[in-house]
Amino acid sequence: MYTYRDLSGTVVAITGATAGIGRELARQLVEEGARVALGGRREERLQELVAELGADNAVGVVMDVRSPADNQRLVDAAVEKWGRLDSVVPNAGIGMYGGILDHTDEQLAEMMDTNYAGTVFTVRAALPGLLADGDGGDIVIVASVAGFRGGAEEAVYAGTKHAQVGLAGALDRELREKGIRVTLICPAGTMTEFAVGAGRTDDDPRAAEWLVPADVAAAIVTTLKQPRSMRTAIWTLWSMGQGS
Ligand SMILES: NC(=O)c1ccc[n+]([C@@H]2O[C@H](COP(=O)([O-])OP(=O)(O)OC[C@H]3O[C@@H](n4cnc5c(N)ncnc54)[C@H](OP(=O)(O)O)[C@@H]3O)[C@@H](O)[C@H]2O)c1
Repeated sequence: MYTYRDLSGTVVAITGATAGIGRELARQLVEEGARVALGGRREERLQELVAELGADNAVGVVMDVRSPADNQRLVDAAVEKWGRLDSVVPNAGIGMYGGILDHTDEQLAEMMDTNYAGTVFTVRAALPGLLADGDGGDIVIVASVAGFRGGAEEAVYAGTKHAQVGLAGALDRELREKGIRVTLICPAGTMTEFAVGAGRTDDDPRAAEWLVPADVAAAIVTTLKQPRSMRTAIWTLWSMGQGS
């Protein structure tokens, strides 16, 4: 029988935990016995989620991933509360849909700063904690299938996701020998606020075919539970109705 790791008592920091994939991930991890430090800008959402999960299992930090200091506060909150950090999931992200002539310079900067620089800042803040106890750790970056092949009307977003893919590959080569596993989780369209906002609507005919947040969260949980003797570098996820 294959033996998965027991996540009980492990500590995971998640950015973008106020909605969608991050919120569902927090729920699934707490069901597995893990403790979660949750980051996002919407304080009320964080408070609701911490109340749902229990203050022994979850801590919320109002933070913006574009700020290195905010990322540090998220990590510090986990270490102060539970004395350790085992895994980090840079998940926060935004997407705006439209053709290459449609986006403003400000929108380009916002997507790049959030999706790419935000991921770098989260990893930088977490790495010392992941290395601290010498028993390895996980960095699980939520990118997208758009990180390999962007679709029409999402060129700028796809570029930010390609940047995350490049970052993760290089980080894997930099950190593997230090016991850090770096995994890219790359979902196709997933039914979240993100997917139906900023240029798409929930009557999009493709919506019926999308993944749901629980599908993506379960892939992340499975990745964390894999024995430390192996690693998943890239996991692309599609629903059966989505063409790859
Ligand atoms: N949904 C899809 O179709 C899909 C497909 C492939 C990949 N993804 C990726 O999956 C990840 C999660 O997206 P989702 O679909 O779950 O979207 P979502 O439901 O809109 O959630 C996005 C999360 O990111 C947070 N966030 C955004 N900007 C932030 C900032 N500057 N600082 C801190 N937190 C910020 C949001 O929190 P606040 O607003 O409270 O800050 C929210 O918790 C993203 O990286 C996205 O690119 C999504």
